[in-house]
Amino acid sequence: MAKKELITKVWIEEGCIVCDACETAAPDVFEVTEDSCIIRPAALDLEFTKPRSVEIVDAAEECPVDVIKFETVSVEVADDAPAETAAAPAAEAAPAAEAAKPAKKAPAAEPKKAAAAKAPVATAKSKAPSAGEPDPSIQALLEAATSRGGHAGIMRNADDMPANTQDWKAADPKSLPPDARQAKVVEAAQKAKKHSELHRRDFVSNSALAVGWTAFGVGTGISVGPAFGRFMMPNVLEEPDPRIRVGKMDKYIEMVPGGVNEDYKPQGIWMIREEDRIAALNIICTHLGCIPNWLPNDRKFKCPCHGSGYYPDGINFEGPTPRPLERFRIAIKDGIVVVDKSKKYQYELGQWDQPGSYILV
Ligand code: FES
Repeated sequence: MAKKELITKVWIEEGCIVCDACETAAPDVFEVTEDSCIIRPAALDLEFTKPRSVEIVDAAEECPVDVIKFETVSVEVADDAPAETAAAPAAEAAPAAEAAKPAKKAPAAEPKKAAAAKAPVATAKSKAPSAGEPDPSIQALLEAATSRGGHAGIMRNADDMPANTQDWKAADPKSLPPDARQAKVVEAAQKAKKHSELHRRDFVSNSALAVGWTAFGVGTGISVGPAFGRFMMPNVLEEPDPRIRVGKMDKYIEMVPGGVNEDYKPQGIWMIREEDRIAALNIICTHLGCIPNWLPNDRKFKCPCHGSGYYPDGINFEGPTPRPLERFRIAIKDGIVVVDKSKKYQYELGQWDQPGSYILV
């Protein structure tokens, strides 16, 4: 029999900045109101909280100001019991974020990432539009920015904020507690950038090698046929194909106007349905490049980093972002909708009415 920790009591200490992160992680346990966050009455019962231990630990970890605390009890479980019911081996009143780390769930995107790693190496030859392999840099950002919160509560308009949040806004930023998610987003973005730089360097050095081999062939008078030339050229990596197949038109016609399809978020795309058309939104926040979340109940995209909000059509209406989300080129090829991420359309430049920025339904 193995021992596991289950949460028997959860509470919120002073200092909540009402950022919604906890309710997103554990909606059965936390309720965020206009100016505070409370534990739902049902969650005061230990038999209710125990099976929700993982969600509560996640909420504690997501909390940017570490005000979610909990107590745990050790229980014996069969060795093959599902891990989801166990909480971190947290000591009573230990800092929640610290306690959360051992029990953190594996990121949902891991299997996709592993699949992407096993994908065959692309060659320099052009190929058909991809069926939608996850974009590694989008994956890194998605893993880092999975819910609301972060500085969102701090960066909202002062009028919208409760008094304690306004105190935070007035404070010297250096005196604020670290925002773990914001740091993770920045770190992931840097890693993704470094990865793409390395990738480019590989491409350049491989290309130089190819040029060298070709010069050698010409210099020594070898007549190189197409097959032999291909043999001499090393396989080279290239940037991911920007064209993504996102399925048949039927499924988008069936969507209700105002609907959002998140199936291709790992590839950096939200498919949206408007009254008479469909379009492909770029999921990158136009403020500083985080990835917003689609909140179906609120009917909006909300960025976890600084609180920018966008309507379902991508138009911004709150937070610091200066402009709407961008849209990608979209077309139908052989009955399949294809999104081309290499061409973007910006609302503020009047480009959303240009052919290619939408498909009429
Ligand atoms: Fe700042 Fe999205 S990156 S609000």
